Amino acid sequence: MADTLLAEAELWVGEMRGVSLRGEPLLVVRGEQGVCVFRDRCPHQGYPLSEGTLQDGVITCRVHRHTFDASSGEGINPLRPCLTAVPSRIEHGQILVELPVRAGAPP
Ligand code: FES
Repeated sequence: MADTLLAEAELWVGEMRGVSLRGEPLLVVRGEQGVCVFRDRCPHQGYPLSEGTLQDGVITCRVHRHTFDASSGEGINPLRPCLTAVPSRIEHGQILVELPVRAGAPP
């Protein structure tokens, strides 16, 4: 089942925002090609990427300045590792995600 994160109109092109869904921190990014959702954790040491910056399609972690492609989540510097993408789509102006249920999580 899909969950609604935000209205599409709440996020402008070139913006990103941290959103919590069922206790899971997520990063919603709206670029020129559309909306992408990732886990809001830097793969380096786990700090929230929503506290970093988004510029010219590149997410930069504020802590050690690792950079990631905002449309794919791939590492730019360093090349690895990548962000964890969460399946998402837009329906009727709402950004929806399919957040996998973790083992042991309440229904
Ligand atoms: S925690 Fe993000 S680059 Fe180190």
